[in-house]
Amino acid sequence: MKALVLAGGSGTRLRPITHTSAKQLVPVANKPVLFYGLESIAAAGIREVGIVVGHSAEEIQSAVGAGDAFGLDTTYIRQEAPLGLAHAVLVSRDFLQDEDFVMYLGDNFIVGGITGLVDEFRRARPDAGILLTRVADPSAFGVAELGTTGRVCRLEEKPEQPRSDLALVGVYLFSPAVHRAVRAIKPSQRGELEITHALQWLIDEGYEVRSTVIDGYWKDTGNVSDMLEVNRTVLESLEPAVRGSVDTASQIIGRVRIEEGARVTGSRIVGPAIVGAGTVITHSYVGPYTSIAAGCRLLDSEIEYSIVLSGSAIQGVRRVEASLIGRNVDVTPAPAVPAAHRLVLGDHSKVQISA
Ligand code: G1P
Repeated sequence: MKALVLAGGSGTRLRPITHTSAKQLVPVANKPVLFYGLESIAAAGIREVGIVVGHSAEEIQSAVGAGDAFGLDTTYIRQEAPLGLAHAVLVSRDFLQDEDFVMYLGDNFIVGGITGLVDEFRRARPDAGILLTRVADPSAFGVAELGTTGRVCRLEEKPEQPRSDLALVGVYLFSPAVHRAVRAIKPSQRGELEITHALQWLIDEGYEVRSTVIDGYWKDTGNVSDMLEVNRTVLESLEPAVRGSVDTASQIIGRVRIEEGARVTGSRIVGPAIVGAGTVITHSYVGPYTSIAAGCRLLDSEIEYSIVLSGSAIQGVRRVEASLIGRNVDVTPAPAVPAAHRLVLGDHSKVQISA
């Protein structure tokens, strides 16, 4: 069995972060979201992984490399434009050959991994297997309708009037039958070859498509609030450790991880929280569910329930909450007069000012 990991896509809902960085590499508890997926593929006993890449190919390739760090053997497959998940299968034909495979969307996060699902697919060996979970906003996803016996009878991509609250999770199991399906379908209204339509084609042609409803935790980390939620969940089970230095005037409370070379002075850190290598925290408060990456500086500031990427500085700011801050960002207070906001924001930035 092989794996196909989709790491193309433009990540419009995470702009401006995704103008300069792939959405699959945005860190959760200081580790790229994609790495959690790769780890769960390796844990399921799969070695050969095709990674479908788009405009951020170089960045993904330099982060994952040949896959040795994960115990994987990676092959990079170029998708010239984000033309849909079924299109990604189409361009991966040579890599996949006639083997079964698990397709994993690189921005999806599944707590508990995929080992059980992969084993079950191997055992029962239907033509395809999908995962479903109940969501509050089904029209943002692919939606499944199940028949009385629990069989999948209809799948729709982002329907305006969803027929159920069962959303398609971004992990799919396929036999080679899918290659006929992706060749048979036509682009959707959004101009993409939808994997949902390929699955519907399989159902219509009499192939067996099995579904498993998972009640475990799953998130598509495509937007900021989901990203912060996944970060919160991962930090809940963080291994606490103090590898850097903490002075006696500081307080470290709860599940906190302080990486090598980090320095905490006169500050209070209430976990769960992680402070990356070499980051300096001075006279500041870091509250629960915060991940601060490596090489950051926090001075006379307060931050909570946020993700800060590497090399950023926050000075004299009270308080930052529910925020995603990119790399090498500077956040400082404005001079006392005039009382004005001074902003240098990238394209598609979002700012909420408490005035
Ligand atoms: C894709 C699929 C959708 C699925 C979702 C899961 O959506 O098309 O059926 O529910 O992933 O993350 P997209 O990320 O392309 O909006």
